[in-house]
Amino acid sequence: MRDDKYLTFALGKGRLANKTLELFEKIGITCEEMKDKDTRKLIFVNEDLKMRFFLSKGPDVPTYVEYGAADIGIVGRDTILQEKRNIYEVIDLGFGKCRMCVCGPKEAKELLNHHELIRVATKYPEIAKDYFYNKKHQTVEIIKLNGSIELAPIVGLSEVIVDIVETGSTLKENGLEVLEEICPLSARMVVNQVSMKMQYDRINKLIMDLKNALEDKK
Ligand code: PRP
Repeated sequence: MRDDKYLTFALGKGRLANKTLELFEKIGITCEEMKDKDTRKLIFVNEDLKMRFFLSKGPDVPTYVEYGAADIGIVGRDTILQEKRNIYEVIDLGFGKCRMCVCGPKEAKELLNHHELIRVATKYPEIAKDYFYNKKHQTVEIIKLNGSIELAPIVGLSEVIVDIVETGSTLKENGLEVLEEICPLSARMVVNQVSMKMQYDRINKLIMDLKNALEDKK
């Protein structure tokens, strides 16, 4: 339920959450409770700042924000594009940089060039659908997987994959390569549409402070 006393943040578990906390410390937002690695608590409060933080699975962050269970979320652009929620995307936080790409064995490049009816395995079916159907106008069969996507072309499940490429080492170690680039990705801050109006001053100050901290880093 909405509680305007606190500003509530949903953070995607893992690397993004750690990087977010580092950045927040630079603008004076801390949450000591959250640093305890052994804790099983799910929600952490900073009473002085009237802020609450919780960790969730990355794909759930836009859901919490759309429904107002969190005012603000920190999540990868990949998740924002895949989940298609009604939320405002307000800042590029600059970390978690990587690319969404079509990848596969070198030979599959021809199948893409000739718009063949191929199978595409991915954890991001909405992004794959938008890219192949709306941008490339190529009819493909999209197969949803939940991880280790690089396996799909190796074991013959699909001709290509749509997946995140960061260093490129997973592709290289499995004899695959980037065939087409879909878009750049990085961590973004997202805001609930009602919170943006109801808590405008607090949220706007947070956005300004973050922008200044990111400028100083450059
Ligand atoms: C991601 C992504 C690639 C890999 C890319 O997978 O899906 O597999 O990282 O990184 P690289 O270019 O630096 O090698 P993740 O580790 O999140 O696990 P998953 O495959 O189970 O989704």
